[in-house]
Amino acid sequence: MARSQLSVKHLLGIKELQVSDIEIIFQTAAQFKTVLERSIKKVPSLKEITVVNLFFESSTRTRVSFELAAKRLSAELINFSASTSSVKKGETLLDTVQNILAMKVDVVVIRHPSPGAPHFLSTRIPAIIINAGDGAHEHPTQALLDCFTLQQKFGTLKGLKVAIIGDILHSRVALSNIWALTKLGAQVRLCGPSTLLPPYIESLGVTTSYELMDTLQWCDVANVLRIQHERQKGNYLPSLREYHQYFGITPEVLEKVRHPITILHPGPINRGVEISSEVADGPHSLILDQVLNGVAIRMAVLYLLAANPS
Ligand code: CP
Repeated sequence: MARSQLSVKHLLGIKELQVSDIEIIFQTAAQFKTVLERSIKKVPSLKEITVVNLFFESSTRTRVSFELAAKRLSAELINFSASTSSVKKGETLLDTVQNILAMKVDVVVIRHPSPGAPHFLSTRIPAIIINAGDGAHEHPTQALLDCFTLQQKFGTLKGLKVAIIGDILHSRVALSNIWALTKLGAQVRLCGPSTLLPPYIESLGVTTSYELMDTLQWCDVANVLRIQHERQKGNYLPSLREYHQYFGITPEVLEKVRHPITILHPGPINRGVEISSEVADGPHSLILDQVLNGVAIRMAVLYLLAANPS
């Protein structure tokens, strides 16, 4: 495997990455994807490295994907869940991580409800930090796997019209995708109810729309976001039924569009709310490709940061 250097020591967000970093990650992920298609899906690249999966929020895809990625690279892996740890007894984030690092851990993969938690750790502890989602801020490996999935399908993202539809306000996936897609030359439109579109978001080089049909007529790709029930503290929506009526992606809505639209969804899916089962499981959906590509992308990120530190 050819080694290339990233410009960053940690993966804290897409905002901090250069286009060349994203290209190196994609080239490395493409090579690791071929490993995942072999009968023996393992390489010895990180056999000296110990990774801790430090999850202070629920996760299925990201946690399992990082676990599998570390194991496929022959790294040692520890899974830490805040709900069964001494965090419940009042231990701080810094104390928790320093105690884990005292056991000689090289890489910390962290998901935390507070925006900036991975950045905080990166300035205080001598380990490689990978952001697996920090509050409503960034989810960099999700955006990398989304864009990698599109690059594998379309060859390039330059000029591709990508709509991100739904709860933009609470979405770290949206923000990381905006950074990644615009860096890679895609055109981005955000679509959702006005209450879920943040003010000033167009300053990031995207357009916005409240009209689903108009957005679908425009786009090549729809990245459909879930409604984040756990972050909806205000009255952003009259009801989920009304949201589905105006913004739900269904076969009936897609039939009115003049061209096929590639469908992405980061998961977990609220079937029957933001997307119907027919569309999620339909011929234009790349949702399960995203999940497979997620392992390859996380292998690439772990490898490039830990086997080849800047
Ligand atoms: N896409 C995503 O982050 O899913 P999980 O919350 O299950 O990790």
